[in-house]
Amino acid sequence: MKNILVTGGCGFIGSNFVRLALGELKESRIVNIDRLTYAGNLENLADLKDNPRYRFVRGDICDAEFVNRIFAEERIDTVVHFAAESHVDRSIEGPAEFIRTNILGTFTLLEAARKAWLAPMRVTSREPRKNRFLHVSTDEVYGSLGETGYFTEETPYDPRSPYSASKASSDHLVSAYFHTYDLPVVKTNCSNNYGPYHFPEKLIPLIINNALTGKELPVYGDGKNVRDWLYVEDHCRAILTVLQKGSLGETYNVGGNNEKQNIEIVQTVCDLLDEKVGLLPDGKPRRDLIRFVKDRPGHDRRYAIDATKIREELGWTPAVTFEEGIRKTVDWYLVHPDWIASVLDGSYQDYYEKMYGGRLKHD
Ligand code: NAD
Ligand code: DAU
Repeated sequence: MKNILVTGGCGFIGSNFVRLALGELKESRIVNIDRLTYAGNLENLADLKDNPRYRFVRGDICDAEFVNRIFAEERIDTVVHFAAESHVDRSIEGPAEFIRTNILGTFTLLEAARKAWLAPMRVTSREPRKNRFLHVSTDEVYGSLGETGYFTEETPYDPRSPYSASKASSDHLVSAYFHTYDLPVVKTNCSNNYGPYHFPEKLIPLIINNALTGKELPVYGDGKNVRDWLYVEDHCRAILTVLQKGSLGETYNVGGNNEKQNIEIVQTVCDLLDEKVGLLPDGKPRRDLIRFVKDRPGHDRRYAIDATKIREELGWTPAVTFEEGIRKTVDWYLVHPDWIASVLDGSYQDYYEKMYGGRLKHD
């Protein structure tokens, strides 16, 4: 892993991964390509700008010419593919961008890897591999669970939102490139991440920000939908583990063993903030801000991961309990009010101009 291409490294999980990987893989360089959509924030990696083992290039993973050029110019031998449209509510409002980036973008990267890594005259090759294409995916491809049971790597796909359908499609393409071309791929499907640099449209950072500023806290439906919460650093360590030890063509489910109802999450954040910064100015607890609102269409009821395979085969387990992780997360947001403000008022997008001298234009 000399020259690692990370896609979507300016997003939430990608930025946490780039920082961790540069620290852990001292012999590796990381080239981060990111289109800098609303979810891509260069400030997330501002501290790495002058690191000689890191390069950022703004670009779109759907642009084959751009992606091929990066593969050749940087002699890419490893890919960790995060770039995606990631927010379920946005996929309900406007699915087109999800289809484009998540499906076409993944296809473009697979094609670039196939051209760069597989000898042009041979369709397949069984030689020992120095290359890896790690595709980061989601447990949402498996659909919705009832009150019992867990998603395993064998659970049939049953995506129910445009987001999860686009991720399922990209997963199938990745598997197809393994079976058809013998492209050296590995795949991870993980549960809900939380932690620093999480965009405040997702449940936990949205609730932290609203509760801090005394705004209403929207809970969809009856608040009893269940998610399994995984601290982002644990997830990034799982990705490193799979990159180093995973078997080609395999999928690894990654989970935090932290099943919680949404309402429990919201109440926990309220109580933590009451404890850390005091009650609201009118003397009321933050739980008073909770409002049950119209449910998300097609809202999956419960996700839960069986992570036996990655634990038994590769020795990975999550290190951070939910109690620790949520405290660390709330603390991070409390000491980064400028980050939240710049994300909410859009000024984080000026960073590109400041740091790289080019203008950031959104198509
Ligand atoms: P994010 O929305 O925070 O970041 C996505 C990044 O991709 C952004 O930096 C964005 O600018 C970039 N991007 C989007 N379209 C692009 C394009 N066409 N070309 C280049 N870059 C583009 O997402 P995240 O939460 O960090 O998720 C990362 C990956 O992990 C995604 O593939 C997502 O499906 C998967 N995942 C996320 C979670 C979670 O809880 N956040 C859980 C399971 C899986
Ligand atoms: O399971 C993995 C997935 O987790 C990832 O693949 C997605 O990229 C990621 O966004 C996340 O999807 P969710 O839909 O589970 O996350 P979100 O934070 O949007 O919502 C978490 C739960 O909270 C979900 O049941 C919907 C609910 N919710 C969400 C928001 C934004 C609310 O009740 N109120 C809200 O305002």
